[in-house]
Amino acid sequence: MKLLKRMLATCGLSVLAAAGAMVGPTQAQDYPTRNITMIVPFAAGGPTDVIARIITSHMQQTLGQTFIIENVVGAGGTTGSTRAMRATPDGYTVVMGHMGTHAASVALYPNLAYKPDVDFAPIGLVAGTPIIILARKDFPPKDLKEFVTYIKANNDKLNVAHAGVGSVAHSSFSLLSSVLDIKPTGVPFNGTGPAMNALVGGQVDYMCDQIVNAVPQVKAGTIKAYAVATPERNPSLPDVPTTTEAGLPAFQVQAWNAIFAPKDTPAPVVAKLNAALVKALDDEGVRKRLLELGSVIPKPAERTPEALTALVKSEIARWTPVLKASAKN
Ligand code: MLT
Repeated sequence: MKLLKRMLATCGLSVLAAAGAMVGPTQAQDYPTRNITMIVPFAAGGPTDVIARIITSHMQQTLGQTFIIENVVGAGGTTGSTRAMRATPDGYTVVMGHMGTHAASVALYPNLAYKPDVDFAPIGLVAGTPIIILARKDFPPKDLKEFVTYIKANNDKLNVAHAGVGSVAHSSFSLLSSVLDIKPTGVPFNGTGPAMNALVGGQVDYMCDQIVNAVPQVKAGTIKAYAVATPERNPSLPDVPTTTEAGLPAFQVQAWNAIFAPKDTPAPVVAKLNAALVKALDDEGVRKRLLELGSVIPKPAERTPEALTALVKSEIARWTPVLKASAKN
């Protein structure tokens, strides 16, 4: 009898397990049946938040469920990214990551809780975001050449805003500091939304930010833009020279924003999220809003989960030596 009971118990467990497995594919087929949380690892109003809201406003139309944006700040975006990595892999929690959280942070956080290229299921690239050198509107230099001379002469007295160690703003300012061999004081914020408020208010001197955060302020004349760190000028700010034109070709940075789900998110769910992202990137209204802010819209071949996997690996390889070297200075 005991043997029979044990066999039934085992059989019962395997039926439950099978049922559990059976529920997975069915859940995936019906996905989504409730709201989806998108973690934005920086403060509201910054570039990551703005891009998340633009892209999810269309994705939710395709998916038929609302995206809830949850700003989870701290540690250069790694706090929110860790939260997402640890979420249930059912498609109901995703994160808007970027070059900082899913590449630069590897070099800067020895005990990072996640491996960006292992612990996530990539969904797709959302936007390229060129970096622009900004300053408070009464900063004395009138162009990039004078800016370089001035910050070299005064860097021990200057305050540079960023969004925390490992953020895009921090990684970009670290690279600029290495290129110019200077050591200004970094001033961290929970995102470049609040950092921009400090720059407009004159509480900090300059910042390397994603262009999507700067276009409205530059156009309004509340801050100065010296140069954009990409080979071509940006159509959203056609009068701002490139760093190459302005005499600093060594400073080239284009960041990016991308959606990630926790590892082991079922493939059909990843496919549905990616399809909704691709549809959003082909929507004229979404494209207009992203382009107005200076974003670079990914080409179709750049939008696949596989392309994002390759991008994360190549960006980790690119930024790790650069940031480890600058951390030693
Ligand atoms: C960054 O610097 O990593 C981001 O621009 C921060 C943000 O999106 O607020």
